[in-house]
Amino acid sequence: MEAIGRLAGGVAHDFNNVLTAIFGYVDLLLDNFGPADPLRADVLEIEHGAERAAGLTRQLLAFSRRQVLQPRRINVNEVINGMAPLLGRLIGSDVELTLDLEPAIGDVRADPGQLEQVLMNLAANARDAMPEGGRMSVMTRNEDVTTERANRLTSLAPGQFVCLSVADTGAGIPDEIQRQIFEPFFTTKDQGGARAWDLRPSTAS
Ligand SMILES: Nc1ncnc2c1ncn2[C@@H]1O[C@H](COP(=O)(O)OP(=O)(O)OP(=O)(O)O)[C@@H](O)[C@H]1O
Ligand SMILES: [Mg+2]
Repeated sequence: MEAIGRLAGGVAHDFNNVLTAIFGYVDLLLDNFGPADPLRADVLEIEHGAERAAGLTRQLLAFSRRQVLQPRRINVNEVINGMAPLLGRLIGSDVELTLDLEPAIGDVRADPGQLEQVLMNLAANARDAMPEGGRMSVMTRNEDVTTERANRLTSLAPGQFVCLSVADTGAGIPDEIQRQIFEPFFTTKDQGGARAWDLRPSTAS
């Protein structure tokens, strides 16, 4: 995914340069065609096409920023505290945001931008799951993963970890859906209209 992200970013960058030339010449042409000129509508169509292409480029760039990871040493609590006002606005006034952050939390190596994206997506899910309101809580704690426990958890080596938990008081995720939630693009929601904060390239042309 990281390689695809870099590729997308590179393509978007070169594509932007081509679009800049198209926009520039469209502007020059528009100077020459007055409002009554029948060719003016054709030039405007070229401009609309270029604008649609620019929109796709923006989506590619958003995708690439999401995929190119820049891990560094960070304090998870600081990222969460910095995001709290934004998360609060995203979940709406009917949902209460509770933070329960371990003051002596250890540092982790992670991409802060990606962590923010994760929190924003989980907040959007919480909002969708609680249309009547409720509570979303974000918790952090230090976890000492023992060899014995690591053997049961296939994805972790033994050692010191930070655990970040996000919970909401909605109906929860049914068992049959839980198996699918890590599939990219899996959803049970109707696809009408892009939702706020959704940086996924839309399927609309
Ligand atoms: N907090 C939650 N409470 C209940 N169900 C959830 C919750 N979060 C996710 N789900 C279920 O898991 C599915 C997948 O969630 P995911 O965030 O991957 O996609 P989405 O929210 O449907 O779409 P997107 O996040 O791309 O806008 C959801 O459609 C929903 O059925
Ligand atoms: Mg979601």
